[in-house]
Amino acid sequence: MILGRNSLCWCGSGLKYKNCHEAFDDRIAEFKRKGYKVPGHDLIKTPEQIEGTKKSAVINMACLDYVGEHIRAGISTQEIDNWVSKITKDMGGIPATLGYEGFPKSVCTSINSQVCHGIPSEEDILEDGDIINVDCTTILNGYYADSSRMFMIGDVAPDAKKLVEDVHEAVRVGLDAIKPWRTLGDMGSAVNEFCKSKGYSVVREIGGHGVGLDFHEEPWVSYVSEPGTEMLMVPGLMFTVEPMVNMGGPDIFIDADNDWTVYTDDDSLSAQWEVQIVVTEDGYEAISW
Ligand code: MF3
Ligand code: CO
Ligand code: CO
Repeated sequence: MILGRNSLCWCGSGLKYKNCHEAFDDRIAEFKRKGYKVPGHDLIKTPEQIEGTKKSAVINMACLDYVGEHIRAGISTQEIDNWVSKITKDMGGIPATLGYEGFPKSVCTSINSQVCHGIPSEEDILEDGDIINVDCTTILNGYYADSSRMFMIGDVAPDAKKLVEDVHEAVRVGLDAIKPWRTLGDMGSAVNEFCKSKGYSVVREIGGHGVGLDFHEEPWVSYVSEPGTEMLMVPGLMFTVEPMVNMGGPDIFIDADNDWTVYTDDDSLSAQWEVQIVVTEDGYEAISW
């Protein structure tokens, strides 16, 4: 689209295009000419939209804080679902996973060799030594906040504890690689190299995603990508850093009974942390974690 330099900028700032995003668009166009994948305007969050996602994130993080304070051996994963459902609604939000493409619960709970999309159940009782990912997504006023954390139940074996901590570090390594005018591949490869150096493998088939105005927006985000490939990161692009990392091999399978829950093929442990960020002029700002 050719926008008059004196017309109002597409971003809604009320400024003239030439005084707002013209130089930004020119810079993106230059990367596009060189063959880079670049985001469209629809993926660039405005300050107002960023504020909206932060308010949603207050609820999102309150849910995970509560889980962290109350999770223990002997409770069922359904109890976690009850907490998330109640806190989200009490704070005026909506649990995004409930009914999302048929997902039946308000949160995902993935234990030990479950990679992701574990379904809370009265029958799944947490045991001493378990590691569990609780992945919570919240909608408030149409804005989405999506983050997940690992929790360790009681006395966890040293190698499992190390996996949980190393994957947390892998996310930090990925976050450090988020810089405007670099690519998602720079970030993904940083995560992958770190995980490989620890002897783990990163799941290839499932990744992160753009987020904010919808649950899953473009781009799809890989954590086994190559430097300089994948979408260009530009200020205002919002996405998740959420690598799924296995202690054994990278292969996975989906539970045929529920068509949701993903497991490691070799039954090895898997861990994941998820942080939602927006790219800024000099790096990133965390939205939910
Ligand atoms: N919260 C997950 C993510 O980080 C998606 C869960 S979708 C569900 O993308 F349907 F499984 F809940
Ligand atoms: Co996500
Ligand atoms: Co999530």
